[in-house]
Amino acid sequence: MDTIIQKVNKDSFREEELEKACEILRSGGLVAFPTETVYGLGGDALSQEAAKKIYEAKGRPSDNPLIIHIADIDNLYDVAEQVSGKATALAEAFWPGPLTMIFPKAEKVPLSTTGGLNTVAVRMPIHPVAAALIRRSGIYIAAPSANASGRPSPTKAEHVIEDMDGRIHMVLDGGQVGIGIESTIVDMTEDIPVILRPGYITKEKIEKVIGAVEIDPAVIANEPKKDLIAKAPGMKYRHYAPKGQMTIVEGDQEKVVAAINSLVQEKEGEGRRTAVIATEESKRFYRCKKVYCIGSRKNEGSIAAGLYDILRQMDHIGAEYIYAESFVEDTLGQAIMNRMLKAAGYNRISV
Ligand code: TXA
Ligand code: MG
Repeated sequence: MDTIIQKVNKDSFREEELEKACEILRSGGLVAFPTETVYGLGGDALSQEAAKKIYEAKGRPSDNPLIIHIADIDNLYDVAEQVSGKATALAEAFWPGPLTMIFPKAEKVPLSTTGGLNTVAVRMPIHPVAAALIRRSGIYIAAPSANASGRPSPTKAEHVIEDMDGRIHMVLDGGQVGIGIESTIVDMTEDIPVILRPGYITKEKIEKVIGAVEIDPAVIANEPKKDLIAKAPGMKYRHYAPKGQMTIVEGDQEKVVAAINSLVQEKEGEGRRTAVIATEESKRFYRCKKVYCIGSRKNEGSIAAGLYDILRQMDHIGAEYIYAESFVEDTLGQAIMNRMLKAAGYNRISV
């Protein structure tokens, strides 16, 4: 199929511009669209056929459930059950926004959308294009990240096209997204809610609203442990990984720079293609032909926003060995390191 690519200016579009996309969605087709976190690959959340198409287009295992995107808090009660007071408080505090919550599913939500689970993940995005698309189409939109399974999530329409051209009906190109990593997922089916995937809405922010929450031990593990099975099925798969071998180097900046420079020199000496993932503060100290600046340590948001694009560029330049700096694992840094460690296959060294 030919994939239609339509530009939409997120600050000045008219809802009528989304009509074609809405028609495709209502008739069971797939449309990729920008959200504030990453691009999503949307289909009708209550249609088994649409869910099947999503799994096919992504090459994704069908036991990996999809998030249902809504445009109105009231819709939550239509797709989910047992919505607790804590959940309502979180919805009021963070919706619309980059927070996904998990509940027992309502009868009408097909098991094909929830990967066979009796629970459902729900999120209300704040991106104006995403919100208008859901509202105008009149349906709930199931949307995983719009990347091919295993690749970094798309933060630009170009990334979606790279993975999905010819596989889906339409891409709405709303430019680069703001946050750059996927929503925080909180399991609300436990008495003490559990964070299954860290994101922009941090544990600290959530605890300010509802008190104690836990973090799925599989998320904070330094390496994949066989006896720790992630409760979000998607978290168990190899993710985001560039083709080259990535190593995260942690320690004081001076020592990290020295260690990475010597590793680069060694590999380049063997005729290997290397690349360094550095920060605004450190980039000038590296002696490597391919130094990529991910963002500034003074602004963790810039690092989250730059991460996936850089991981994709590693493949474009054919980097065989990739050396990346490390980030403190608190607040947003926890979400960043969670993705980086997966990209590196948990390969990290301390200097
Ligand atoms: O920011 C986001 O959340 C983006 C945008 C497009 O909204 N979407 C996204 O979807 O990241 P996806 O499919 O790439 O990741 C969804 C994650 C997976 O790890 C999946 O296993 C988990 O959510 N998940 C979905 N439903 C679940 C459920 N009922 N129980 C546990 N985990 C669930
Ligand atoms: Mg994904």
